[in-house]
Amino acid sequence: MVGAPVVLLVFLDLACAASFDSELDRVGVISGCSIYPFVWNILLAARNEGYGGTPTTFAAPQERALQQLLGVPEQMAFAALIPLGRPVKQLTKLSRKPVEDFAVLERWDGPALGPIQEQD
Ligand SMILES: Cc1cc2nc3c(=O)[nH]c(=O)nc-3n(C[C@H](O)[C@H](O)[C@H](O)COP(=O)(O)O)c2cc1C
Repeated sequence: MVGAPVVLLVFLDLACAASFDSELDRVGVISGCSIYPFVWNILLAARNEGYGGTPTTFAAPQERALQQLLGVPEQMAFAALIPLGRPVKQLTKLSRKPVEDFAVLERWDGPALGPIQEQD
């Protein structure tokens, strides 16, 4: 992280954040939809150019200090810190669970998705 040639900080303008779950009595998840697709697109674009990066959020508890250090207005919420650089090795084979391992049909306790059939 310290040696990364670029450390990108992404902030979200709270005036533009979608947060339809803010009234619910639980931690909000929807506000992230306003910014993490953008973070993901940055990572995809970087990869396309031969760079690599990883999204992190560990600096969030120091948001105020970050804002002061960088002159960021208070309404801009810290969203991500992304070190970017030339990867030592560009990964190509990632192990991911097959979609049918966690996707179900119709209900939470419904049958597993299974192989997708093409419709005519
Ligand atoms: C929104 C987001 C925030 C993350 N924040 C951290 C973080 O603060 N610290 C950390 O070690 N990993 C964090 N991670 C996980 C890593 O960036 C990365 O996703 C993980 O190493 C696994 O890599 P993969 O998702 O490519 O398999 C975060 C991931 C996401 C999607």
